[in-house]
Amino acid sequence: MTTAKRDLLALTDLSTAELRALLRRAAELKRLQKAGACPTPLAGRSLAMVFEKASTRTRVSFDVGMRQLGGHPLMLRGDELQLGRGESAADTAQVLGRYVDGIMVRTFEHDKLETLAKYAPVPVINALTDLLHPCQILADLQTCAEAFGDAALPDLRVAWIGDGNNVAHSWINGARVLGFELVLACPAGYAPDPAVLGPAQAAGAKVRVVRAPSEAVAGAHVVTTDVWASMGQEQEQAIREAAFAGYQVDAALMAGARDDAIFLHCLPAHRGEEVSAEVIDGPRSRVFDEAENRLHAQKAVLEWLLGGRPLVG
Ligand code: CP
Ligand code: NVA
Repeated sequence: MTTAKRDLLALTDLSTAELRALLRRAAELKRLQKAGACPTPLAGRSLAMVFEKASTRTRVSFDVGMRQLGGHPLMLRGDELQLGRGESAADTAQVLGRYVDGIMVRTFEHDKLETLAKYAPVPVINALTDLLHPCQILADLQTCAEAFGDAALPDLRVAWIGDGNNVAHSWINGARVLGFELVLACPAGYAPDPAVLGPAQAAGAKVRVVRAPSEAVAGAHVVTTDVWASMGQEQEQAIREAAFAGYQVDAALMAGARDDAIFLHCLPAHRGEEVSAEVIDGPRSRVFDEAENRLHAQKAVLEWLLGGRPLVG
C-alpha cells in the first residue's frame, strides 16, 4: 500500500497530535543545535525554494535549516524561472519534482500553491501566500510554548490586533487545531476572510472577531500584530494607515493584557505604525526568539516531509 504524499499548505493539514508533536520536535532540534549535535537525516536531499515575493527570515531559515540537516537548498526566484514568463504551475511542479525531494513556495495566489502541490510528486511547503503563512505560526507557537510551557498551549488566550491577513488566518487555523482562544480586533473592512474564519468557527474553534483592541487584549497571554499593508498592498498604504488608526500595539494597550503577556510580531515591523518602539523593543517582546524559531520549527517540518520522520506513531 502506498501512502499519500503529505504537504504543508495550511496548519489544518496537521492533526492536533501532529502539530503538538511537531512543536515538541522543534524544541528538541533547538536544544540539539545549541549543543552542537544537530542530526543530518537529509543528506543527499534537495529542496527547491521558489520565491515570488521578498523574504529575509523565511529564505535564510529554510536555507540554513536544510544545510544543518545535511541537505541542499536551491534558491529559485520566480522572475528567474520560466514560471515568471508564463510556464504553468502544473508543468513547473512536475519538472521540479523530477529533480528535488521537496518544494517550498512563497507566492501571491493561494490557488497557485495548491496547483503546485496537486501536480508535484514531492511534498510542497507553504512559505506564505496572500491567504496563509503556516510556517510563521509554527514558530510563534514554539515561542508561546517557551514562555508558558508546552502543556499550556491549548489554554492560552491570544489577541491579534490589526489586519485580518495571511498571518491572522494562520493564527485562526492554529486555534482551530490546538484549541486555544483567539480574539482578533480588526477595523471595519479588514476582518479575516470568511473562508478561513467560517470553517474554523463551525469546527468549534474558540475564535471571535471584535472591533476594540482593548477587548481583544483583556486577559491575553499573547498580543500579536502585523504590518498594515502586506506585500502586494503597498499602493494601499495611505488608506490603510487611516483605517488602522487606533490599532497600534503600544504600552497602554499591552497594560490591558496579563502581567506576564508576551508580544509577538512575524517581522518585518513598522515601528510607529502597528507597534510602538517601546513595545517591540521592550521587555515583553519575544520577536527575535520568534524569528529564530522559524529555523527550528521548519527543520522539524523538513525532517518530517523530506526525511520521512513520522510525527506521531
Ligand atoms: N516573517 C517572515 O516571513 O519574514 P520574511 O518575509 O523576511 O521571510
Ligand atoms: N502579512 C505580511 C507578512 C510578512 C511576513 C505580508 O504578507 O507581507
